[in-house]
Amino acid sequence: MEKVTRRKVTVIGAGNVGATTAQRVIETGLADVVLVDIVEGLPQGKALDLAEAAPVVGYDVAVTGTNDYADTAGSAIIVVTSGLARQPGMSRDDLLARNAGIVGSVVAQAAAVSPDAVIVVVTNPLDAMCHVAMTASGFPRERVIGMAGVLDSARFRAFIAAELDVSVRDVRTFVLGGHGDTMVPLPRYSTVGGVPITELLPAERIGQLVDRTRNGGAEVVALLKTGSAYYAPAAAVAEMVEAILLDQRRILPCAAYLTGEYGIDGLFVGVPVVLGSRGMEKVVEISLTDEEKAGLLHSAAAVRELFDKLPA
Ligand code: APR
Repeated sequence: MEKVTRRKVTVIGAGNVGATTAQRVIETGLADVVLVDIVEGLPQGKALDLAEAAPVVGYDVAVTGTNDYADTAGSAIIVVTSGLARQPGMSRDDLLARNAGIVGSVVAQAAAVSPDAVIVVVTNPLDAMCHVAMTASGFPRERVIGMAGVLDSARFRAFIAAELDVSVRDVRTFVLGGHGDTMVPLPRYSTVGGVPITELLPAERIGQLVDRTRNGGAEVVALLKTGSAYYAPAAAVAEMVEAILLDQRRILPCAAYLTGEYGIDGLFVGVPVVLGSRGMEKVVEISLTDEEKAGLLHSAAAVRELFDKLPA
């Protein structure tokens, strides 16, 4: 009988988001995971620790750590979490330039040995880093996707579920736009057990939950003080990885490179997409009110502004 080869998922960056993503992915048992970092010993140590949890948790997939991209060859998916967090005294533009350098370099190395992979970008500023990854890999837009919408909509879902005291599983939401404070949560398309939240909550309360969603990342940073969120981001990445590995064709909000959809051309912006084995299989265009459209275009303009500041 032919031997089955397990698929490989590479996670670049063995920090908080990367290591937690690796944990989530191996716990699905769907693929081997290769954790990569520039720091020697860090990915190896975390991978060893995760491998030693396997007998207790019960996964049979392999997890390894490395500083060498040769070990990532033949990956089905490359998750990019490497980068710097903003340090005191560092401007947003400095962060943009530093992370663009890091993302460009790691993606070029990883894409060269996994030419058929789907790249999932997590490093911030997200939408701009997606651009860098697409350029560095030379991959078509279908195979470069940013993780933001699943996280932003998860936050919105958590807040709505808590507000209405119902299961998070029955709450569905849509959040469009860039991953930043201009994101556009869409209450009309956000439902609880199929009922739009506009029927269930007063507009003012929805507005407060929308604001909390927009500031969701900052709220966590303010509490942690020394870092940013990673449990929810990693869970969001794992959901996308599973959709791709299993060709689930999930409809999930992701950062996708638009070529005219929603009246936006040549930018990565968060929109609903069909996510399957070939990556972004389709951009789903939903009808928007004038106000929602204006919010999306405003958000796209903020993405464009950062994009224009990317080092050439
Ligand atoms: N190659 C490989 N790894 C690198 C490189 C590089 N050139 N430069 C930095 N790294 C690694 C760091 O060594 C570190 O282990 O990236 C990792 C980042 O981990 P953390 O600092 O813990 O950051 P984390 O919280 O995981 O966030 C990573 O995801 O959500 C976003 O805004 C967040 O951009 C940030 C990214």
